[in-house]
Amino acid sequence: MLDRFAAVRSDSEALAVNLTPEDQAIQSMPDASPTKWHLAHMTWFFETFILNQLDADYRVFDPAFAYLFNSYYEAAGPRHPRPERGLLSRPTGDIIGAYRDHVGAAIGRFIERAREPVWHQAAPLLELGLHHEQQHQELILMDIKHVFSINPLLPAYQAPQPQIAAPVAPLDWIEVAGGLVEIGHRGSGFAFDNETPRHKVWLEPFRLATRPVTCGEFLEFIEAGGYRRPEFWLSDGWATVCEQGWDAPFYWSRDESGWSLFTLSGLRRLNPAEPVCHVSFFEADAFAKWAGKRLPTEPEWEIAAEGVPLSGNFADCRLFHPCVGGSVAAANGRPIPGQMFGDVWEWTASPYIPYPRFRAAAGAVGEYNGKFMCNQMVLRGGAAVTPAGHVRASYRNFFPPSARWAFAGLRLAEDC
Ligand SMILES: [Fe+2]
Repeated sequence: MLDRFAAVRSDSEALAVNLTPEDQAIQSMPDASPTKWHLAHMTWFFETFILNQLDADYRVFDPAFAYLFNSYYEAAGPRHPRPERGLLSRPTGDIIGAYRDHVGAAIGRFIERAREPVWHQAAPLLELGLHHEQQHQELILMDIKHVFSINPLLPAYQAPQPQIAAPVAPLDWIEVAGGLVEIGHRGSGFAFDNETPRHKVWLEPFRLATRPVTCGEFLEFIEAGGYRRPEFWLSDGWATVCEQGWDAPFYWSRDESGWSLFTLSGLRRLNPAEPVCHVSFFEADAFAKWAGKRLPTEPEWEIAAEGVPLSGNFADCRLFHPCVGGSVAAANGRPIPGQMFGDVWEWTASPYIPYPRFRAAAGAVGEYNGKFMCNQMVLRGGAAVTPAGHVRASYRNFFPPSARWAFAGLRLAEDC
């Protein structure tokens, strides 16, 4: 646990190495948070839910931080308004670094000294804290991309990364028989509460695409007037298109020489073979309707992902951008869908609601997932900014249907 704690904490700090103190203080929209706020909030989580509760020797670093760095936990008391996180010029980044060191050292001592039954209580919370920190690592990358995208200088977070010049693999379909199946987390490894309980679901036979939709395919939708034809859109989606003036995925731009997209390595020409990224659920759903297909439901996605290795283009590849997929592999004579893990989160047709018999945990950590189970859609599989090892087949990410700053794309499904 000590080694894992140190490794995850240093991964967070490594993400800020390329950023100046000015970069780390900006909040570019209410949904996004400054880098330094993320670094402090991850630390607040360990301090609030472990040290303050279970370590009698712990001395709070600064009592004011309980208010500043609580995100949304009602049970942990009042908090600074989310849209105003970018106004916190103080505490400085240096002080937040000292806060991280203080809490990190205290957690280190706690892990070494804790005895049963305190350890029995602390271990699941430490585990949750590390997975929470990994979620915020992805948010740091999502949020700084947005910060840089609205700066006319279009700063690059990192140097240009090598691109795969290979052509895209032809789209193929994997047929799944369906029937009575089980989904949800199983086994003894970590899972968030929203992945449980494992339960039965009935699936009609379906086909799932062997790879995500590419930028080139999405461009065909744009050129076919996809953003101007209400017949493909959900009512709320069409209202959003009209209100926001959407005419392409987020971070796409066009000049006389064609389309470019903004990446964490700066602006670059659109590569039609790459998976499309930064589309909302509304755009993913409209594309699928235009293509005469549909989005998979989350049980369909999870059943199709069974046995697929948990490898892919994750944050440890340091591309921080989806890449062109290879040809489809096979195991036991059955084709394996490509790029299920990594590259882009895949929107599903499923609303984010509790699984049958779900119960949120008692106390403040019960607020982690359960209270957000309304008005959001589920995404599966992880992205190029998700820490490797963070996701699983049963992992449920969720965003409102109009959100576009996540690294989200789509994969098609159809009935058979
Ligand atoms: Fe958080």
